[in-house]
Parts: sequence; C-alpha cells; structure tokens
Amino acid sequence: MTKSKVVIVGTGFVGMSYAYALVNQGTIEELVLIDVNKDKAEGEAMDLNHGLAFAPRKMTIKAGDYSECKDAGLVVITAGVSQKPGETRIDLLNRNAKIIQSVTKSIMESGFDGIILLASNPVDILTYVAWKESGLPSSRVLGSGTSLDTARLRYEISKYIHIDARNIHAYILGEHGDSEFVCWSKAYVGTKPMLDVIESMKEIEFEDLDHIYIKVRDAAQEIIKKKNSTYYGIGMALVRITNAIFDNENSILPVSVYNDGVYNIDKDLYIGLPAVLNRDGVHHVVNLKLSEDEQEKLSRSAKILKNSLDQMNL
Ligand SMILES: NC(=O)c1ccc[n+]([C@@H]2O[C@H](COP(=O)([O-])OP(=O)(O)OC[C@H]3O[C@@H](n4cnc5c(N)ncnc54)[C@H](O)[C@@H]3O)[C@@H](O)[C@H]2O)c1
Repeated sequence: MTKSKVVIVGTGFVGMSYAYALVNQGTIEELVLIDVNKDKAEGEAMDLNHGLAFAPRKMTIKAGDYSECKDAGLVVITAGVSQKPGETRIDLLNRNAKIIQSVTKSIMESGFDGIILLASNPVDILTYVAWKESGLPSSRVLGSGTSLDTARLRYEISKYIHIDARNIHAYILGEHGDSEFVCWSKAYVGTKPMLDVIESMKEIEFEDLDHIYIKVRDAAQEIIKKKNSTYYGIGMALVRITNAIFDNENSILPVSVYNDGVYNIDKDLYIGLPAVLNRDGVHHVVNLKLSEDEQEKLSRSAKILKNSLDQMNL
C-alpha cells in the first residue's frame, strides 16, 4: 500500500458522513467518490473540496469511476437500497446482494489489489457476498460489523459511571442486528473488571446492564424513528477502521470478519468479532474465552446469519 487513497462507493448519508470525517481528521491523501447518481458524487466532491482550505492536511478529492480503484488502498462500500412496499426481508437482501456483487465485480475489474470495507446492511451478509465475488483473501475483506454498536455501548456505560467512553473496554459481538450481545465477562473500565465496578459503584447496578444492552440494540430504530437514518456514528467508526489500516496500527476493533473456526460456531460466514487490524487488513481474530451464556448467544447469532445466507440465491 503506497499511498493513502480511499474510494467510497455510495455517496449517500453514510458514505458522505464518512467522507466528511475523513477530511476533518486528515487521515488520507486522496479520496474518490463513486455513485450510480453521478451528479450526486460530483456535487459532494465539489462541496468537500470547498472545505479544504480549512482542513488539517492537503488532499485531493474528486468524483470518479471504477478505474480509480486500481491503485486505491481501501474501497469502502456504503451503497444500498431500502425496502420497497410489500418487499420481504429476503427480497431486499437479494436485491442488495445483487448490487454488492455488481459493485465488487467493477472494483476487481480495475485491477484493484487492496482492502474492501463494507458498511451496507445487512453488513455481515453483504461482506460475505463481497468477499465471495472479489476472490480476495478473507483478511482483505471486512465489514464494519459491531464497531458502531460497541461505540454506542461504551457511550451508554460512560453515561452511567461518568468515566470517559475511551476508558471503557467492552464489546458488542455477533450479528450487527437483533441477535448481537454484550460480552460482559470481558468488559473493563480502565483495568477494573466491569463486574467489580458494579459492586464498588453506586451509580450502576446489575439490573442496569440489561437496560444498557436494550438501549444499544434498539438505538438505530430509535434514531430512524426520529430522523429517518443514522450516519454520523457509522461515519466515525469507518474512519477509526481506516486509520487502523493505513497507520498499520495493529489495533483491536470489533468488525465483521470471516469465521474460519477461531470460535466454535458455524463456519463459512462473516460475523462481528474482535480482530487485530493493520495494513494487511485483518491480521487475526482475537480469541476471547467467552462465558457459557455468551458462547450460546454467539452460536445463535451465527445460526441466524447462516440461515439468511442459505435462503439467498447467491
Ligand atoms: N453498518 C452500519 O453500522 C450502518 C449504519 C447505518 C447505515 N448503514 C447502511 O449503510 C447503507 C447506506 O445508507 P445511507 O443512509 O447512506 O443510504 P442512502 O440512500 O443515503 O445512500 C445510498 C447511496 O447508494 C447509492 N447507490 C445505490 N446503488 C448503487 C450502485 N449500484 N452503485 C453505486 N452507488 C449506488 C445511492 O445512489 C445512494 O447515494 C445502508 O445499507 C444502511 O443500512 C450501515
């Protein structure tokens, strides 16, 4: 990976929140925007360019086509369509899968040899679809997975105990969806186990853990009810993953990765697990010793994803 070039496919709310956060954090040198709606991509590139005089670093931003992927280190897919009236979940899934297949095909036809990061939903399923279509090693195709859900969890815990969210080390694992769960047995505040924190602080009780989980799990629906879609949080989560890759950080983040047996769950699927990320993509999946209950929840989540994959016409 010689230069820090990112191509975003899908310049909707999520793609552009990511782009705006990238520009403001000065993460990369070159940004290219692709969308089926070419005017949208062009307008967004113009608008972002007009902020460069105030940006923390020099960079180039433009709208382009798939040939731009050839020398990109990272392509981030945020393209998606929403449910039509009367359409079933599986119909929508198949329609989105077709889009991701055709987008991935175009990326690979350019001669691309970098890393693909997916945010389009359902992210675990669509990351699998992109990986299959790309022919790339699974270490170089990943999804945002439960990175956003985990950020929401850290924020919610931090509100209870008045400790900075950056000092809360806890993960949401599994499907980015209803079967996701909190890995409480491995949750820490600084270096103090969460369960000790609960015993020693009056601000939080064991019963609060369920409220926190439900709040996190249902956060997207609550935001969608109020403002139709969610995008700032995922935009920043995608930048965090981008930094880990381009800066060769070896940082641990909960992302959607290929399960080839590190965890004892259904294989040949993508699911949210903690993984070490660097310039090569997913260096390895971190193997946590889960409690019995957490292991069951992870297996259940994997089964749900496997069932969806089995029902699709891939
Ligand atoms: N992973 C997460 O945590 C997370 C969080 C929020 C949203 N999302 C998902 O991100 C996706 C995008 O959401 P959004 O709010 O930006 O939607 P949006 O409708 O604002 O944007 C989607 C964009 O994709 C473009 N597009 C559609 N088909 C395309 C194709 N074939 N090629 C190129 N571009 C194409 C559209 O023109 C549009 O600009 C959705 O699937 C949404 O569910 C994921």
